[in-house]
Amino acid sequence: MSSLAIESIGLLVTNDPELGEGPLGLRRDATLVFEDDRVADVGHGGSDAEQRFDAAGRCVIPGFVDSHTHLVFAGDRSEEFSARMAGRPYEASGIRVTMEATRAASGEELRALAARRRAEALQGGITHIEIKSGYGLDVADERRLCEIASELTEDVTFLGAHAVPPEYDGRADEYVDLVCGEMLAACAPPARWIDVFCERGAFDAEQSREVLEAGRSAGLGLRVHGNQLGPGPGIGLAAEMAAASVDHCTYFDDDDVDALAEGDTVATFLPATDFSTRQPYPDARRMLDAGAPVAIATNTNPGSSNTTSMSFCIALAVREMGMTTEEAVLAATLGGARALRRGDLGRLSPGALAHAVVLDAASYIDFVYRPGVPLVRTVFVAGREAWKSTRLPL
Ligand code: NIG
Repeated sequence: MSSLAIESIGLLVTNDPELGEGPLGLRRDATLVFEDDRVADVGHGGSDAEQRFDAAGRCVIPGFVDSHTHLVFAGDRSEEFSARMAGRPYEASGIRVTMEATRAASGEELRALAARRRAEALQGGITHIEIKSGYGLDVADERRLCEIASELTEDVTFLGAHAVPPEYDGRADEYVDLVCGEMLAACAPPARWIDVFCERGAFDAEQSREVLEAGRSAGLGLRVHGNQLGPGPGIGLAAEMAAASVDHCTYFDDDDVDALAEGDTVATFLPATDFSTRQPYPDARRMLDAGAPVAIATNTNPGSSNTTSMSFCIALAVREMGMTTEEAVLAATLGGARALRRGDLGRLSPGALAHAVVLDAASYIDFVYRPGVPLVRTVFVAGREAWKSTRLPL
């Protein structure tokens, strides 16, 4: 057994209210002890661990859990983004542009692109990630994307129902049959989850239900893209089917809030998407006040959110969505874990996976107070140092 102690932590976010102050379970002047890949102890002062790491009074948080990404893709849509910043509306049809580039790329190219994005995310403090397929939209390519994703995470999501590909124009129901049949059989496993884009212009409630039911029968957990571009049935369907998460939730009404407050389906907000598509920001306060479980994720993808930065998402959530800094940090860590139904992530209490981030800051408040500044100093994954910043020391 190997052990490592992070000592002299000025402010430790455990996310366990039984271990410290408030919902973040804050501890001051703390020591965090890892044994192998797990958190073994949260204490004070020195320890007899084999290895020691001096946090020098800095803040340590649980690694971010990014529960919504489309990391495996090829191509670039910066021109589309630029046109949007000049006033053109976001159109989900851009998915086909990325589909073409992704189909044309070799496995090695896709693998290298995804690995580079995963490394970038790690450097921003994301220690666990969910990755969706969805830019293949045929059996072989969806399978290929799921396989590449599975090399980077256990939480792979099959998103064949991301868009209707051009070869199925006017035959959406036939495409849904393919997704629910041959494509699902090819993708589950390696996928652990199934997702559907339930939105006007993508898949309607009936088609979405069919996809989710097929995924459930194949043993997959359920996720839904819903209520991104306007009000719609996505949130209600996700809650009714007890999906783990419904993502975007930019538009919602009282019934949607009630449905989520009554169940376990997490409302996952993707604020960088609302930024990049010039959509209004969702009123997260309304969900929180109703007691609905919430998460924040990056939605890394080339069309609607080309960022791996969770700290950017936190800053937006606080500035634009009515969340407190504490709520946003909790949503980006424990909230993401909940959205992936992972009890071993998003907290630094005994038994959890030892995924921790040492900040170049005395407090997590700096994510919002110093927006855009790289604040991650050292990242630990499964009890080992996985990355450290080469920036000059403060
Ligand atoms: O989550 N909403 C659907 N899918 C992605 C966007 C995909 C794209 O524009 O390429 C999303 O925002």
